[in-house]
Amino acid sequence: MMLKQTLIKAAETGAAVMQSYFNGKFEISNKEGINNLVTEADHASEKAIFEVIKNDFPDHYILSEEAGEIIQDSTYKWIIDPIDGTVNFANGIPICCVSIGVEQAGKMILGAVYNPFMKEFFFAQRGFGATLNSKKIQVSTKTEVVKSSMVTGFPYTYLDAPNGPLQVFEKLIRKGVPVRRLGSAAIDLCWVAAGRFDGFYEHQLQAWDSAAGFLMVEEAGGKVTDFKGNYYSPYQPHIIATNGLIHDELLAIVNGGEVHMK
Ligand code: IPD
Ligand code: CA
Ligand code: CA
Repeated sequence: MMLKQTLIKAAETGAAVMQSYFNGKFEISNKEGINNLVTEADHASEKAIFEVIKNDFPDHYILSEEAGEIIQDSTYKWIIDPIDGTVNFANGIPICCVSIGVEQAGKMILGAVYNPFMKEFFFAQRGFGATLNSKKIQVSTKTEVVKSSMVTGFPYTYLDAPNGPLQVFEKLIRKGVPVRRLGSAAIDLCWVAAGRFDGFYEHQLQAWDSAAGFLMVEEAGGKVTDFKGNYYSPYQPHIIATNGLIHDELLAIVNGGEVHMK
């Protein structure tokens, strides 16, 4: 499948660019929100990824974090985050990746998330499962939130809303539930897919943060929804991604419910 090969090549190319800048000197500028950064490496990775895609599929639609949209009349859409985990990247923390999802007629069909620093390449194809470095991965089997290990992320600008990021976080940690904050939503999702975490939730994501990762979780046997429990769309901000078994309980907690001690 040509599409698959191009996707893998695009992720590898972006990741190589990212590696070439890591811990070196690069320009950092600010986006909206004081610590919402973009570096020279984000732009360079994006450019390299675009070249790969445009070479093989010049008429496909592209949606990418830094460059925006290349609107084309195509059923295929590439959704790209050239570096997910930019703050980590800018601080020399090797928890960052290239994330690329491919949609066909509005359905995510392929996803690739590559963290070259840990040499972890996650790949998913709808209907064919999810892999880590070519080995099948599966979600965990935990059945209770209180015994689960969680991961979340916080938006760059404080989100003051009922059941906001801090309230949900507080509720979980008050009950002793371990909640990590890795700084890359794409990696968070892949680590749920690999069974390292039992659940992930976040209040404000963009399509490029989750496009590849949500397919990874689904194809590893997990469940992904919005905060209402509806089928997940990456074009709205809320996400809950779990092993499926703790999904309803986590969904209730994110909506103001309590953590059950059982
Ligand atoms: C961010 C990361 C982070 C999440 C933020 C995202 P970026 O993406 O995925 O984990 O909490 O909401 O914006 O800016 O590093 O590409
Ligand atoms: Ca991102
Ligand atoms: Ca990014």
